[in-house]
Amino acid sequence: MDWGLKNRLSRIIKKDGRTVMLAVDHGYFLGPTTGLEDAGKTVKPLLSYADALMPTRGILRTSIDASSETPIVLRVSGGNSILDEDLSNEGLTVAMEDAVRLNAAAVAISIYVGSPNQKKTLLNLAKLVDEGHRFGMPVLAVTAVGKDMVRDARYLALCCRIAAEIGAHFVKTYYCEGFEKLVKTCPVPLVMAGGKKLPEKEALELTYNAIKRGASGVDMGRNIFQAEAPVAMIQAVRAVVHENYTPQKAYDLYRDLKSRMRSGKKKGMKNVTAKSEGAK
Ligand code: 5RP
Repeated sequence: MDWGLKNRLSRIIKKDGRTVMLAVDHGYFLGPTTGLEDAGKTVKPLLSYADALMPTRGILRTSIDASSETPIVLRVSGGNSILDEDLSNEGLTVAMEDAVRLNAAAVAISIYVGSPNQKKTLLNLAKLVDEGHRFGMPVLAVTAVGKDMVRDARYLALCCRIAAEIGAHFVKTYYCEGFEKLVKTCPVPLVMAGGKKLPEKEALELTYNAIKRGASGVDMGRNIFQAEAPVAMIQAVRAVVHENYTPQKAYDLYRDLKSRMRSGKKKGMKNVTAKSEGAK
């Protein structure tokens, strides 16, 4: 791996081999998603707790503080919307040159294995990896997005392995029974996608199970920004990912932070899960 690419990736996946990415790219096909109507307002208090932020370039340019030090994993695929039954018809929406101009630390693209646009999206990935190598830019392949999918270990292992074989530097996929099989057969780091909103304790259990079975972290959106207390939730997720908290301990932390925030006792609150650079 070239130095620039390695350096960018190391800003996302920390020295402990793990990462908490905050996904806020939903609008690229879902429009104004609940919790992201004003994406800048939602992201602001969460940004310093995220190891990386995953937005589209439109949201990045309009709504994210340019002085932020949080690495950006830029969504660069799209071209479809929720109004189409088949979400797989995606192309590349951002030139690599613009990703570099935006100081992205990585670019993210969806692949749709088994869909009518399988070949097209896999070739999009191949093209992006080639471009990524020219510019020293890591590529995240996002797998298995869509409604009514059978996200079992066999399918997800297929998606992840194909993404890695084409050259993705890290892969985002869903949790499933037998997740360790995916990890074992994928030669690049896997981050777990959050998926639809779950009760907070269940989302922490999901995170714990993925980490325990070898995930390099999470790339989570709705389970953080749609939580009752998003800032408390991202810290609880961090505690599982970076400090191996059990789901119960992390949930206790979540409830504690939530109630302290509610009662306005933020001052002097011990921030056990802030990023190593220090919470801002
Ligand atoms: C799907 C994505 C999104 O970033 C991701 O699915 C959103 O995160 P979550 O499902 O956790 O809300 O890659 O296109």
